[in-house]
Amino acid sequence: MNARTLPLRALLFLGLWQTGRRSLASAPELQNQPKNIAVVGAGIGGTAAAYYLRQEFGAGVKIDVFEPGTVGGRLATVKIGDYEYETGGAVIHPLNLHMKHFIERLGIPVRDDVSSKLAIFDGNELIFEESDWFIINFIRILWRYGFNFIRMHMWVGEYFGQIHEYQQYGYSFSTVEKLLHAMGGDNFLTMLNQTLEETMMADGFSQVFLNDIVAPVMRGNYGQSVRINGFVGAVSLAGADPGLWAIDGGNKRVCSGLLYSSKSELIPARVTSISVKVRPSKTGAPTSFYEVNYVGESGSAHSLYDIVVIATPLHEGKSDITFSGFSPPIPSHYPGRYQQIFSTLIHGTLNMSYLGTKEPASEFTVSDILTTDSKGCSINTLSSLDPVHIPKGYKRPPASHPKVWKVFSPQPLSQEQLQDMFLSWDSVSETRWLAYPSYHRPHRKTPPFILHDRLYYLNTVEWAASAMEMSAIAGRNVALLAHHRWHQQVGKIDQEDLHTRLRGEL
Ligand SMILES: Cc1cc2nc3c(=O)[nH]c(=O)nc-3n(C[C@H](O)[C@H](O)[C@H](O)COP(=O)(O)OP(=O)(O)OC[C@H]3O[C@@H](n4cnc5c(N)ncnc54)[C@H](O)[C@@H]3O)c2cc1C
Ligand SMILES: *[C@@H]1O[C@H](CO)[C@@H](O)[C@H](O)[C@H]1NC(C)=O
Ligand SMILES: *[C@@H]1O[C@H](CO)[C@@H](O)[C@H](O)[C@H]1NC(C)=O
Repeated sequence: MNARTLPLRALLFLGLWQTGRRSLASAPELQNQPKNIAVVGAGIGGTAAAYYLRQEFGAGVKIDVFEPGTVGGRLATVKIGDYEYETGGAVIHPLNLHMKHFIERLGIPVRDDVSSKLAIFDGNELIFEESDWFIINFIRILWRYGFNFIRMHMWVGEYFGQIHEYQQYGYSFSTVEKLLHAMGGDNFLTMLNQTLEETMMADGFSQVFLNDIVAPVMRGNYGQSVRINGFVGAVSLAGADPGLWAIDGGNKRVCSGLLYSSKSELIPARVTSISVKVRPSKTGAPTSFYEVNYVGESGSAHSLYDIVVIATPLHEGKSDITFSGFSPPIPSHYPGRYQQIFSTLIHGTLNMSYLGTKEPASEFTVSDILTTDSKGCSINTLSSLDPVHIPKGYKRPPASHPKVWKVFSPQPLSQEQLQDMFLSWDSVSETRWLAYPSYHRPHRKTPPFILHDRLYYLNTVEWAASAMEMSAIAGRNVALLAHHRWHQQVGKIDQEDLHTRLRGEL
């Protein structure tokens, strides 16, 4: 696809959404609708699934969403002083069309933009610092990296486009590999199986560009190196594109908005086990149900559901759900682990010498400091944070003022590290995340979206790439799968060659 045509296409898709290309459940279908659906987890994936399940199955079905923690999951904020700050998923790409659609539907505004400025730290000094002057940046970048930067922006622009259109037409996919194949053909599958380094070297990017720019972006976004898979790498590089945005009042607002709009019931409980139960139905023919067992404040209970969507990673440390009565068996934990990241918010004054720069702190207005893979770097990023709601007349203060900084690091920050980085501080708030998969290669086959007849698994998509938009795409995909499989509309599942086909339909 031609990257230049994307903005236009993006607008077109949004237009389609508003007019609602696909009709809601039509009359004959209503005679045989599911009665109860459970969604396990109220992050962006689970709440998007609830929203699209309501859209697919109509008003008659009861949707329960289980969540023992805070609605939003890995989209979360902490309060420091009078303001709240993002501690989990923070930035949204302009081509994240599901996210855009959600806030438009929910009437939630975009956060006011505070211009950002990037620098790269190698453990000793700043090897790159964006200037306030566009032309100076342009010359610096061109001087050191040639056209790599510009090509990079074009290169990543191609990634989300088509899948939204396919979903708009109701197409769904049974595995992550098939979904990726639909998004970008064999090329995407190869990227899933190659390292980012291999992919970019093969495309003619330079080693110095990889070391100085690409590696720091990977450390910042995924806490990993250029040896992660090429697909997640491309999604991550999109995080260095212009036009990134966030949701006013905090990204997690979109999750509570989706829950409300889907008219689901939030059950504040942890799901402990799911089993298949066979019961005779009214007509006498045996029907199977899923029994969901859960523990909440008022003790443990269970309920029966026709359809269940798991919207939390089935991995060590992330969730513990036992599946019983399934053949073949479903494991509580799939192989592979999640990467630990500490997100530490510090209110204090930065020690400029830590960055090895002689610039006066009063003139230092860099917002994001990425780090290289060199040994001296014990942190992944250091950012000057703006609140989730930008007050009127707000200007990001320079480094000479005490303000909120965010550090991503693989280990908790020690007292010594804090003393090295800050001249003084008055509050430290640490969040430990099992943030995203620890990507490795060769690519292991991902768990399926369909675990059993009517039991679906959303977070398998994270093994291609973990991002809000990916969970939203998977949320819609499982809602479509659930609908089509319920009504036996196999023509909308795993179709090949949608690109040419849809050109015909248009
Ligand atoms: C530090 C950090 C920075 C990030 N930055 C970005 C970014 O800038 N942009 C971006 O797009 N993405 C970013 N991401 C990734 C993004 O946040 C995630 O991909 C996305 O939020 C995942 O959403 P989810 O709903 O699939 O999973 P989750 O948000 O993890 O939701 C799963 C929910 O299930 C619940 N749950 C677990 N077990 C059970 C159980 N047994 N019963 C019931 N409920 C259960 C959990 O409490 C949780 O709320 C970042 C992630 C982290 C951690
Ligand atoms: C990925 O690589 C492995 C090993 O190199 C290979 O067996 C597998 O077929 C590849 N998968 C794809 C989708 O290319
Ligand atoms: C500031 O950073 C320098 C260089 O890392 C370090 O020597 C110094 O101890 C730090 N702290 C203060 C308070 O200057």
